[in-house]
Amino acid sequence: MGERTAPPRLVVTTGDITTESVDAIVNAANPSLLGGGGVDGAIHRAAGPDLVRECRGLGGCATGEAKITKGYRLPAQWVIHTVGPVWRGGRDDEERLLASCYTASLACADRVGARTVAFPAISTGVYGYPAAAAARVAVSTVRSTHTMVETVRFVCFDDRTRQHYEDLLAETSRGDEP
Ligand code: AR6
Repeated sequence: MGERTAPPRLVVTTGDITTESVDAIVNAANPSLLGGGGVDGAIHRAAGPDLVRECRGLGGCATGEAKITKGYRLPAQWVIHTVGPVWRGGRDDEERLLASCYTASLACADRVGARTVAFPAISTGVYGYPAAAAARVAVSTVRSTHTMVETVRFVCFDDRTRQHYEDLLAETSRGDEP
């Protein structure tokens, strides 16, 4: 098909990721993939019980990896489940593992031909990753990934998180100017 890959366009927004009308939303899951609190709980509630049924067949997921399911009752066609690192002070490979969540999720999106993907701020809730540092990893990783995904939406649950992303995008776009 001669498809070309490039870094996606980045968009920042505030809100509930379960309402996003994109091809795929990303879930900040745990290694069981059987549901939990935070954004994981919200996604499972909104998708309905067929989601956990499909997840049971996946055999879990390692930290930094990703697996894809259908979106069931969600507006999104797909859910990409990735497992972020638990923050342990920064000396336990957390940064590499968090970056890997973004690249593995985009690779899943490419496998199914998803062109628009929404990410939550992976690891920054229950898993305790500092929000500003996590936003930096998210933006720099997606910015440097060649994919067929055209648009990545960073869906922030609160204005403080959103501000971290806005600051980074402003910084980077200033740097892009000739
Ligand atoms: N839409 C967008 N973002 C949300 C939503 C939502 N509906 N709900 C929460 N967030 P967390 P983690 C934000 O804790 O840190 C689960 O129990 C939230 O404010 O959901 O990766 C899993 O099963 C925060 O900014 O995920 C795992 O056990 C971000 O999403 C564990 O939590 C991530 O917070 C994973 O922890």
